[in-house]
Amino acid sequence: MNMLELIDKKKRNNSLTEEEIQYMITNYTNDDIPDYQMSSMLMAILINGMNDNETAWLTKAMVDSGDVIDLSSIEGFKVDKHSTGGIGDKISLLVAPILASLNIPVAKMSGRGLGITGGTVDKLESINGFHVELESEEFIKQVNEHKIAIVGQSGNLTPADKKLYALRDVTGTVDSIPLIASSIMSKKIASGADGIVLDVKCGKGAFMKDLEHATELASTMISIGENLGRKVAVVITDMNQPLGHNIGNKLEVAEAHDFLSNYKESEQGLLDVTIAISSKMYQLATGVNEEEAERKVVETLSNGAALDKFKEFITAQGGDSTDIIAKNTKHQIEVKALNDGYIQLIDAEMIGKSSLLIGAGRLTKADILDFDAGVKIVALTGQQVKKGDTLAILYSNKDEVTESVKLIEDAYTITNAEPVKKNSILKIM
Ligand code: URA
Repeated sequence: MNMLELIDKKKRNNSLTEEEIQYMITNYTNDDIPDYQMSSMLMAILINGMNDNETAWLTKAMVDSGDVIDLSSIEGFKVDKHSTGGIGDKISLLVAPILASLNIPVAKMSGRGLGITGGTVDKLESINGFHVELESEEFIKQVNEHKIAIVGQSGNLTPADKKLYALRDVTGTVDSIPLIASSIMSKKIASGADGIVLDVKCGKGAFMKDLEHATELASTMISIGENLGRKVAVVITDMNQPLGHNIGNKLEVAEAHDFLSNYKESEQGLLDVTIAISSKMYQLATGVNEEEAERKVVETLSNGAALDKFKEFITAQGGDSTDIIAKNTKHQIEVKALNDGYIQLIDAEMIGKSSLLIGAGRLTKADILDFDAGVKIVALTGQQVKKGDTLAILYSNKDEVTESVKLIEDAYTITNAEPVKKNSILKIM
């Protein structure tokens, strides 16, 4: 068996066997298959897809590429969540302390930014001193002591996904259902949680652009969970427009802090998705009904316990819990409305590209992030604006921002028609 034969097989749209998938993942993890061959395979998978068996074998091979954390020494039902990736998606920074403050242990492994979407690990690393690399024992100890830990793919957990994720990010091979499903589920299975809530993003700023594909991705991940003995629930949420007001690593940490300080002032979509995901996680862990789960979530937000937990968590992982405000960037460019009217849509994909270009995300594997760069959405969907009003502010340390500014201008659709309110929660599975 060799990689060239396997690429050829997938290129001709034939199915790979379990043994072939295992061979490919083991040898790629050990650096015996080079990036250029794996890139070619990833593109063949993206174009020709994988059947359910191939996807399950790929997930299993990725889990087997490294250690699997045994969380059995942590008392209680361990619950985890994962998003398929969005713009301004800071939900993990919110739901993890919410659940932990309700005494539900959250042992979470998160990812870095991918394509135009941000990643929780990058956001957390924007906090001075915060470290995301905990060995398994430290990870377990922290969950036992604080009920919350969020780590990157450190140590030897799913090293195959770690390599593949970074490669997909820069080879145009992200938006494939089997690759996304196996990437997410391998991490979730290796990090040992009993129950997993998946936030499948759907719309212009998501890898799944419509409800049909989002549902297909959700079903694929539910079936992987069933095969591998994990309780999985899915909430499909809207990602046509960014979540909340801020896009960019440090800006999003600050927004998470503000949300936990006063959730009533938050942007509606961010609030709805946070409540839906936290309640689902609480329900999975405790078995209470939806109404009771929501009541508990709102209670912990209202009494300040979730905010206290957020600060405790940052400190426990070495971070400075007072370092939550983005530094002033060299340029702050106000993007103005080009006409009067109502804001119908703020295109999440364009906002994501705009912030990526100014360094909030990576264009190549070697890129170093600018944690303070990003976009603040000032005028939200549904709002009435006049020509010349400020729509958004671009925070950039780069001097060349023409394309980023143009992308923000183009992201706004402003017309005379009064917009119809859209729901952020599209489907619960
Ligand atoms: N999140 C992941 O962890 N992997 C993907 O492929 C996409 C989103």
